[in-house]
Amino acid sequence: MCGIVGYVGKREASEVLLEGLRRLEYRGYDSAGVSILNGSGLQLRKAVGKLANLEKELRDAPIHGSVGIGHTRWATHGAPSVRNSHPHQSYDGHLSLIHNGIIENYRELKHELQAAGVKFESDTDTEVVAHLVARAYRGDLLKAVAEVLPRLRGAYALALLHQNEPGRVIATRVASPLVLGVGEGENFIASDVPALLKYTRRVIFPEEGQIAEVTRDGVRVFTPDLKPAAAAVQTTELTLDAAEKEGFEHFMLKEIHEQPRAIAETLRGRLNEGAIDLSETGLTAETLKTVRRVAIVACGTSLYASMVGKYLFERFTRLPTETWSASEFRYANPVVDRHTLVISVSQSGETADTLEAVKLAKAAGAATLSVCNVMGSSIPRLSGATLYTRAGPEIGVASTKAYVTQLTAFVLLAVGTGRMLGTATREDETRLVNGLMRVPGQVRALLDKDIVAVKRCARRYKDVFNFMYIGRHYNYPTALEGALKLKEISYIHAEGYAGGEMKHGPLALVEGTFPTIAIAPRGATREKLLSNVQEIRARQGVVVLVATEGDTEAAELADYLIEIPDCAEELSPILAVVPLQLLAYYTATQLGRDVDKPRNLAKSVTVE
Ligand code: M6R
Repeated sequence: MCGIVGYVGKREASEVLLEGLRRLEYRGYDSAGVSILNGSGLQLRKAVGKLANLEKELRDAPIHGSVGIGHTRWATHGAPSVRNSHPHQSYDGHLSLIHNGIIENYRELKHELQAAGVKFESDTDTEVVAHLVARAYRGDLLKAVAEVLPRLRGAYALALLHQNEPGRVIATRVASPLVLGVGEGENFIASDVPALLKYTRRVIFPEEGQIAEVTRDGVRVFTPDLKPAAAAVQTTELTLDAAEKEGFEHFMLKEIHEQPRAIAETLRGRLNEGAIDLSETGLTAETLKTVRRVAIVACGTSLYASMVGKYLFERFTRLPTETWSASEFRYANPVVDRHTLVISVSQSGETADTLEAVKLAKAAGAATLSVCNVMGSSIPRLSGATLYTRAGPEIGVASTKAYVTQLTAFVLLAVGTGRMLGTATREDETRLVNGLMRVPGQVRALLDKDIVAVKRCARRYKDVFNFMYIGRHYNYPTALEGALKLKEISYIHAEGYAGGEMKHGPLALVEGTFPTIAIAPRGATREKLLSNVQEIRARQGVVVLVATEGDTEAAELADYLIEIPDCAEELSPILAVVPLQLLAYYTATQLGRDVDKPRNLAKSVTVE
């Protein structure tokens, strides 16, 4: 949540900052602002709402200068307003600061500063840092920042400019993402790599607590006590093309269409002559010998992928496996010890609750493995091992391609681990490896074929107030994910339920026009789910049925039929979710919603 950028070089800083903020707008769009240092001192422009408003401000009143910082905000402390927008300034007006994260002890720091006579201009937690650094400043911004950091509790990526030090940006991070971009005669900071790609692919990921000094001539990284630290420059594989819409109306639609490639990439090099190869994770029969149970932690869509992961793990490894919402795990005093394997799942690798859950697991001596999409992000850096999902940059707030690649990764992990433990058979492995290799093509066929049926359905039901999604076993999480997609981007209320639970309450909602999306592909629970569909129809409910191609019985029960290709039931969640993503997308676009930037949300939830 919140995106930060910084620039020191030879170009117009305003252009570089706006380009970076455009790439980071997925992180928050409540307001945006820049601070640029030039011969007249620190110049500020801020605007509430989307970045376009700040662009207009800068068109109307341009600022020239080649050093600056910029911010796009997802509001936590203080409503979206100009006074709460970043950059914030110190009481003496000499320093500008941007922040992503939350300063948890800001109240006590604020009281202390107020008692010393400092006047606050905003309701944010961030402003205390600007004032503290200004009070510590004795001619060296780097030293002042280092002096203040031990006083801050919480999560932060910060960047600061001081009017007495033109040509120098100081940045630091604790539990929030920060990347430094290395150019020729110009250098950059950002919350995420896409913000830098127009200018450089050479990047440094500073460690927790490190402080960076960014000037035109170079980037230097220091330990918290200002000793020089080694900073490895890496070349990112991401390209600007991957971060563009490429002719699609929205990133979400582009990302839905990228799923065949994303799944194929996730499989690349991990299937070896019909066997699953997990060597990159470091998991071996030897290391697995001590594991007695598995706990999977994640949030949102990644949590639903984890629920499928639980079913797969228990089926193929026979290890007791729990799934935890990371925000619950942290405060539930979970039973975790050195015999537990904690798997964290995160597209961004920066979700605050998931990151903290991994820290907790490590502290308890558990083995940690992450399933993550963003190379070099905080969660994989903290985890003992990582299986990257290789979906490519996901920009739309609604997660799509990351989800199907997480499901793919779980099939690899569960069956591969089961093979090492001797609990999964060679036949299972062969069956699923063959099935997995067909999935990219099947998803492509589904995308080509189902769009017409789904669009029709979206047109018909876009004005209803409530939707129900039901599924069983592997596709119960599909129901949850389908409902989340719809509510998140269309703002229609939707609930996901296990089909067997309908009689225990939700059936009372069903009447004439109430639509239920039932997910009933071929598999052990199909018949049971079709019975649930009968019960809904008997009460005049409308049923949109997702079923396997050629299932004539299902076809007879459906008001709307959406067919998916035949596949192993363990793989059916990968295929069944695709029409549900499209249904959410077309419903939202027909309602005129801002699909890629739904209200109140941000892509990366880096605050608790
Ligand atoms: O980056 P993560 O996978 O850790 O993010 C977790 C959730 O915030 C995320 O899946 C969220 O629920 C999406 N907006 C759902 O589409």
